Amino acid sequence: SIDISTLTKQTGLTALDQGFVNTAATKSAITYIDGDAGILRYRGYAIEDLAANSTYLETAWLLIHGELPTAVELDHFEDTIRRHTLLHEDLRRFFDALPHNAHPMSVLSSAVGALGTFYQDSLDVHDPEQVEISTIRLLAKLPVIAAYAHKKSLGQAFLYPDNSLSFVDNFLKLNFGNMAEPYVVNPVLSRALERLLILHEDHEQNASTSTVRLVGSTEANIFSSISAGINALYGPLHGGANEAVLTMLKEIKDSGESVERFVERVKNKEDGIRLMGFGHRVYKNFDPRAKLVKESADEVLDALGVRDDLLDIAKELEEVALADDYFIERKLYPNVDFYTGVIYKAMGFPPRMFTVLFAIGRMPGWIAHWREMNEDPATRIGRPQQLYVGPTERAWPRR
Ligand code: ACO
Repeated sequence: SIDISTLTKQTGLTALDQGFVNTAATKSAITYIDGDAGILRYRGYAIEDLAANSTYLETAWLLIHGELPTAVELDHFEDTIRRHTLLHEDLRRFFDALPHNAHPMSVLSSAVGALGTFYQDSLDVHDPEQVEISTIRLLAKLPVIAAYAHKKSLGQAFLYPDNSLSFVDNFLKLNFGNMAEPYVVNPVLSRALERLLILHEDHEQNASTSTVRLVGSTEANIFSSISAGINALYGPLHGGANEAVLTMLKEIKDSGESVERFVERVKNKEDGIRLMGFGHRVYKNFDPRAKLVKESADEVLDALGVRDDLLDIAKELEEVALADDYFIERKLYPNVDFYTGVIYKAMGFPPRMFTVLFAIGRMPGWIAHWREMNEDPATRIGRPQQLYVGPTERAWPRR
């Protein structure tokens, strides 16, 4: 690898790399990906092992601190998170100011930015204790904010967190419980959601994480940095793809169009359509997360006794695409988002909540990267170059 900043100084040359296809902006010890071999590891641990054996919070600790927690550390961490789930009452009222049909991703990014205003005495980016308490607050409160965005869209009352429950069960209750009757957690649903969250926890320098790092490189506080990351995740080419996949599957079903015909239109780039949930900047092989999600889709639907034509359409699309030269030549495989929507739908989440679930999953990764960046003495403010292609100097017209 070449250190471009040294090369630039020596030669005066500027590298043009639109979309940062071949420019590393940082060194990182958090996540390893081999896109050709379809390998993903957090701090050296295989994603398959973490998905099978770990929990969301244990994996979050691993990403943030670099090692798996001891039993005592994990217990303390879970307990601390539990004690920070409540939102300030004024922040609960923040939701009243928004229209009921506000997209929950916009609600989420605004609320996370606003969250920082309640903790102005602990925003010092160089104080490890303040960074630690902000970490806890973000992890504990994001699911509550997300559930309130959901409840708001339904016109239902917000519930207070139930701290006798685990992180994931509490989240399910906040979304699907109500004031009138007790909420019984379905363990299949709970474990499936935990697995999906683990799969989303980090993915090195993707668009949202790079955004968090870029904003954080200005020494902006962690709430503002992560609020920016949530906005980056919203787009359909990134986290928003899970919602877009469901919309695509539904459109195919409702129109009665055959899967083959739809794939044909994608190949012809008709109206610029893409096969959503397919392709990845880094994976030129199976996305290892997609394999695990596909297994989960069958398990969850079977366990819930749900049949969904959309899952059949997704499987058919995968089969047709993987046998087609267009996708083979371009190395386009299903990514993590291809099957998640079908599972979230079976769980009862509306499509607009899908990317919010991704954001909850990704929160530990954003935090880990923000902290790694701040602890690295080599960090400099992020400031890409440009190649100016506008008019050269022009004389001011006499008027
Ligand atoms: N459907 C059809 N064609 C595609 C797709 C797709 N999903 N993805 C890429 N291609 C084609 C492009 O049209 C291009 O073809 P060309 O060589 O004829 O011009 C070629 O494959 C290369 O595509 P790029 O857009 O250059 O690849 P890039 O790495 O920039 O984009 C991306 C990656 C954004 C993920 C892209 O594959 C895509 O749009 N996929 C659909 C959206 C999606 O699922 N996003 C989620 C990504 S994973 C995540 O964020 C969690």
